[in-house]
Amino acid sequence: MRNGGRPAGIVGTGFYVPPKVLTNFDLEKLVRTSDEWIRTRSGIVERHILSDGELTSDMAVAAARQAMDMAGVTANDLDLILVCTLTPDQPMPSCACEVQCKLGATRAGASDLSAACTGFIYGLSLGAGIVSSGAAETVLVIGAEALSTVTDWTDRTTCVLLADGAGAAVVRPVPAGRGVLSTYLRADGGMRDVLYVEAGGSRYPASAETVRKRMHYIRMTGRDVFKWAVKVMEEASLEAVRRAALTLDDIDLVIPHQANIRIIDAAAQRLGIPRERFVCNIEHYGNTSTASIPMALAEAVQHGRVHEGDTLLLVGFGGGVTWGSAVVRW
Ligand code: ACO
Repeated sequence: MRNGGRPAGIVGTGFYVPPKVLTNFDLEKLVRTSDEWIRTRSGIVERHILSDGELTSDMAVAAARQAMDMAGVTANDLDLILVCTLTPDQPMPSCACEVQCKLGATRAGASDLSAACTGFIYGLSLGAGIVSSGAAETVLVIGAEALSTVTDWTDRTTCVLLADGAGAAVVRPVPAGRGVLSTYLRADGGMRDVLYVEAGGSRYPASAETVRKRMHYIRMTGRDVFKWAVKVMEEASLEAVRRAALTLDDIDLVIPHQANIRIIDAAAQRLGIPRERFVCNIEHYGNTSTASIPMALAEAVQHGRVHEGDTLLLVGFGGGVTWGSAVVRW
């Protein structure tokens, strides 16, 4: 999509991770792995994990409050809350309704959106589109994920990568030439088998057997995801930039999905964008799925890496499979 209505953009960002930290050395005690293997294969050193009693919606609300403070909006200003997640507090009510209630956003509509790790790009695209059309003034888009709740802590091929966290963005009308300039959304359900959670839906409703067979956890063919991810990171980056009528030279900062440092390195090399222009915080947060892009964006903003007028490229990929990108002028 090339943004055609009134300009809409991100006017506030925030992020939250739970206090509990799990280091690579902690994981050495759980599965047959090593700090060296995890660091060199993924770039991850530590990650944050929910403690008992903490919920996805709690992380989402904490991130949202920061974003709303930065944007200078109150709960009463919110017209719509979109929570992108594959790990809501429960199947129903939606995580967005939990967030709406906890924020006291009495005027807002609220809905969850599922596109795995690409969720935030989808949410931003929808949120900006709705604001752009004039149907809403203020949309809160949140990526929140409690992957630790769907992680098989006996599976070393996944448990060393996955983590919890939330990032949020407030989307509102912005001056001409600013905001979300373009988006690109793709999916290929034919590739479902590279990354999935098998049970818990209509295919295999939860039962004693699905629990016994450990079918409620994320399964992944890491090598296949890796090769595909590098390809679509390049494709999605080029397409969003083309749709914004820009070139890669115009991009000041790339905010990629934080799945693996080697995927980011490979994408940077293929695109010919200097590595310093990529925001990477996977070292401390691991792969937080749909939360990773808004978390990286919010942290870059907090660290003063994003300046007024900068052009940002957000790019991600995930289960489904889904992939997508957005060009945003700050
Ligand atoms: N510790 C030690 N050894 C391990 C571990 C581990 N944690 N995990 C796997 N190994 C072993 C494998 O068994 C294999 O051993 P073998 O050669 O004897 O069979 C060896 O290490 C190499 O395994 P590979 O899978 O080839 O390792 P690779 O270099 O591909 O790295 C990784 C694996 C990190 C998973 C990588 O493929 C990757 O990052 N893939 C993409 C992941 C991703 O982006 N997922 C998408 C998002 S997740 C989500 O959507 C929620």
